[in-house]
This record gives sequence, C-alpha cells and structure tokens, in this order.
Amino acid sequence: MNRLALGTVQFGLPYGIANQTGQVSRLGAKAMLQLASDQGLDTLDTAIAYGDSENCLGEVGTEGFKLVTKLPGLPDECTDVSAWVEQQIAASLARLGVTAVYGLLLHRSLQLLGPNGFALNQALQKLKDNGQVKKIGVSIYSPSELDLLTPVFRFDLVQAPFNLIDQRLHRSGWMQRLNDSGVEVHTRSVFLQGLLLMAQANIPAKFSPWHTLWDGWHRWLSRHDISAVEACLAFPLSYPEIDRVVVGADNLEQLAQIINAANRQLINDIPDLQSEDENLINPANWTKL
Ligand SMILES: NC(=O)c1ccc[n+]([C@@H]2O[C@H](COP(=O)([O-])OP(=O)(O)OC[C@H]3O[C@@H](n4cnc5c(N)ncnc54)[C@H](OP(=O)(O)O)[C@@H]3O)[C@@H](O)[C@H]2O)c1
Repeated sequence: MNRLALGTVQFGLPYGIANQTGQVSRLGAKAMLQLASDQGLDTLDTAIAYGDSENCLGEVGTEGFKLVTKLPGLPDECTDVSAWVEQQIAASLARLGVTAVYGLLLHRSLQLLGPNGFALNQALQKLKDNGQVKKIGVSIYSPSELDLLTPVFRFDLVQAPFNLIDQRLHRSGWMQRLNDSGVEVHTRSVFLQGLLLMAQANIPAKFSPWHTLWDGWHRWLSRHDISAVEACLAFPLSYPEIDRVVVGADNLEQLAQIINAANRQLINDIPDLQSEDENLINPANWTKL
C-alpha cells in the first residue's frame, strides 16, 4: 500500500511559490494519474476552490481512486444552508464525473462554530446518510482548530499541514488523539510549497529572517547522502498514525521523483527544523512578508 496521496491544486491553477511550469495540462494530468495508479497511490485530493481541478479530474478520469474534495466557505448571505450544501456537492460530483466521493472536508472549518454551524453539520451528515460522501471532515491550518471543533463536530477525516518545520500536529498530541479515536489523518505541505526543496541561493529574500534554519537545513543536506525530497518525505512517513501524505507536484517528473524518494529506505537521523512561527509555517501569511 502506498501512503502517498496526490494533491491536485496544480491541475486547476498555476499554483505555488516554486512552480516554474504553470498549470498542469490535461495530457500532463492524465500521465500523472497513470503513474500514480501504477505506483499504488489510491487517493486524490482536490477542492471546489482549486480552479479547474475538479473539471480536469472529471475529464481525465479517476477510476480506481478515492476522491477527497473540499467545500468552500459558506457565503455570508446564505439563507438555506442545506440547499447550498446540496447544490455545491451536486455540482462537484458532476464536475468530477462520479456519484459519490470518499471524503468531503470543510475548507473553512471554523464556520461550524458560527451561526450556521449547526445547519452545516446537519447538511454534511445528510450527505453521508444518502451515500454521496463516505467520510466528512475538515481541512485545518492549525491543530488549535481541532480544540475548538471537537465539542461540536464528529469528523471522520482530518487534513492538516505537517512537515519538518511545522510539527504542530504531532507536538500538540492531536495526531495521536485522532488516530486513537479512529479518525483518518491526511497531512499536506510536506515540502512547504517547495520551499524546503529550493537550493539555498534560490530561497526568496523575504524568508531571510529564518536564515539560521535554512543554514542548518542545507548544512544537514550537504553532510548526508540523501536528497531534500527524500528527507522531507521520510519525516511524515515515519509516523504510522498518518494514513496519507498528500504531495503536490507540478509535472510528471516531480511526481516520479517524489514516488521514487518515498520508496527509499527511511532514515533515523532527521534534522530538527521545528518552528511555530506562523509567518513561516502558514503559506497564507507569505504575501505579508
Ligand atoms: N523537484 C522539485 O523542485 C519539486 C518536487 C516536488 C514538489 N515540488 C514543489 O512542491 C510543491 C508542492 O508542495 P507541497 O506538497 O509541500 O504542498 P503545499 O503546496 O505546501 O501545500 C498544499 C496545500 O496547502 C495549502 N496551502 C499551500 N499554500 C497556501 C497558501 N498560500 N494559502 C493557503 N493555503 C495554502 C493549500 O491547501 P488549501 O488551499 O486547500 O488550504 C495547498 O493545496 C509543488 O507545487 C512543487 O512546486 C518541487
């Protein structure tokens, strides 16, 4: 079983700080899904918010894969939450060309705590009951969201960032707690949008406040016979509590590189790059740097 899952934001948008090849073409997407399938990857991660990604998956065909998609934030002016959720999922399924998805995650999970939270929760449960969705859950940006959500929401699946720098999911105890309670755990951002894979000279100047961290990382790499891709992947894959490690790739070559790297022997000696600085670990904050 391959614990990698393919993230497909790149199928729908020219996405990412390290992206040099733009949005993946339909032909490129088909080749990437073929490679993923051949190598035993069984899960594709997408979202309604990822531009053309769902359409691309529907056109290219996703037979044999489990699909996880995400609901965007509920509009403020929405007066009928149930109808809105039903419309969103119907449109998503139509774009994907399937009658059901494996997972549906909330992209704006804290709306569950807002005035429409109860109705949103009920609408999600209904999708499960009628078989359009097997697992419901949340895509989070910080494990602190889980502290707030657990009293009101029973999730089956959680997706959270986790990488050599952002280790909050483990340090907070949430990785273990989710696993203990049977919640499926998917992690993303293993390469921190590719920042961890850049040659040190190519790291944008705005990341210079963390120069000590980059110095340590690149010194470690130069002293070990292991590539940055291998070390990044070895880290989440060393946690058995993680069910799937979602990886992003801009093209077939990167996906092949990722799959090969994940197949290598795991390392014991992993560098300590841990940081809780939200300006670094949450890419949503990078535009402010
Ligand atoms: N050889 C190479 O150079 C090589 C090889 C492999 C990969 N890469 C690079 O690595 C990239 C993938 O990195 P990754 O797997 O670590 O994934 P990532 O891009 O760090 O994270 C994926 C998800 O994290 C969330 N996220 C990332 N940036 C965000 C932002 N600005 N604002 C809000 N949310 C954000 C997004 O999810 P939501 O929008 O759903 O929240 C996104 O789909 C590829 O695109 C490629 O450029 C390079």
